[in-house]
Amino acid sequence: MTHLECSRCGKTHAHNRLQNLCTCGKPLLARYELKAAAKTLTREALTTRPANMWRYAEVLPGGPPVSLGEGMTPLLDARKVGAALGLKNLYVKDEGLNPTGSFKARGLSAAVTRAKALGASSLAIPTAGNAGGALAAYAAQAGLPSVIVMPADTPMANVMECRAFGADVRKIDGLISDCGKYVAEHKDREGWFDVSTLKEPYRIEGKKTMGYELWEQFGGKLPDVIIYPTGGGVGLIGMCKAFDEMEAMGWVASTRPRMVSVQAAGCAPIVEAYERGSESSEFWDHAATIASGLRVPKALGDFLILRMIRASRGTAVTATDEEMLAAGRELAAFEGIYAAPEGAATLVAARKLVAAEWINPEETVVLFNTGSGYKYSEAWERALNLSGIQATVGRQEQ
Ligand SMILES: Cc1ncc(COP(=O)(O)O)c(C=O)c1O
Ligand SMILES: [Zn+2]
Repeated sequence: MTHLECSRCGKTHAHNRLQNLCTCGKPLLARYELKAAAKTLTREALTTRPANMWRYAEVLPGGPPVSLGEGMTPLLDARKVGAALGLKNLYVKDEGLNPTGSFKARGLSAAVTRAKALGASSLAIPTAGNAGGALAAYAAQAGLPSVIVMPADTPMANVMECRAFGADVRKIDGLISDCGKYVAEHKDREGWFDVSTLKEPYRIEGKKTMGYELWEQFGGKLPDVIIYPTGGGVGLIGMCKAFDEMEAMGWVASTRPRMVSVQAAGCAPIVEAYERGSESSEFWDHAATIASGLRVPKALGDFLILRMIRASRGTAVTATDEEMLAAGRELAAFEGIYAAPEGAATLVAARKLVAAEWINPEETVVLFNTGSGYKYSEAWERALNLSGIQATVGRQEQ
């Protein structure tokens, strides 16, 4: 790594001390000497490296990794659900198999690694749930105290895991945006380092490894379409950053997978901004969805998400809670994948985009199941009680 660069104004910042946002208030991105990285980060070298995200060390922040074995999640061939949709090449990247049951493990492994290396003494995070669980786990491994600030109605599994990992859990009567304000107001007085999504430069570095893995798992190619559930948007921004780095290293050409952002109908600021042709989103009032990770009324990196969707010739679509729950049952019953509602939302989007002929039957499509259904007992209880689903499932089985 050579430095940090502002994603908006381009100003450079030192990477060898703790940093949050640029002076202009926008997120910082890590920059590397990619030509040098390409000399040792080769496909051949990768064959002998451990099956976790730190295999891409040349393009990750430095410091002894704080790791629980995150990354290198399976890319599953969803044959039956694909056939039902009329898609020949439908895959599910199952991020639910990460430590703490979600893709958030990647970002927090990178962030805690760097924060510890740079001398942070305690870490705080506003969270919709899964990021809090991941921070609490990695902080425990690093031997650092953590403060997890979450909405009072966060799924039970997230609250329990944070407590088990020894974190200081604070419940707020509000949304993740209110939790973010709480951390911002208390951090200086209490000496916390703020690891909020995109207010800290390295979570995105961990998440971008999903893009590197796709390339490896597809044998040195990228898929045509990637469908991703978007809250703060770091997964989507991270993968696009990975593709740019891969191009600079000569791994891929300039064509990119079309990036599809899926949001909950009850909280869809990015979809709304995309449809309006706007460069940034408006705060979404009364955000409500069972997909707790998608309950983000305004993303700090909204302008980056929108820029990347458009640059890749992607699109943005919504899924209702009922649609997500039904799609979750399909993934479970036909593919053996017990998905988070956020992950199930990607199947809803795929179905809509096939119907609209936006996706062609021959194209390679990847759905990201960003979390494990095992952390969503409340949502799954509702899913299993849905009437009418049995009929759909039964029909497909024949
Ligand atoms: C399971 C799950 N999926 C998706 C998201 C949204 O992720 P991002 O902030 O990268 O858009 C979250 C965020 O909490 C999540 O927990
Ligand atoms: Zn700036």
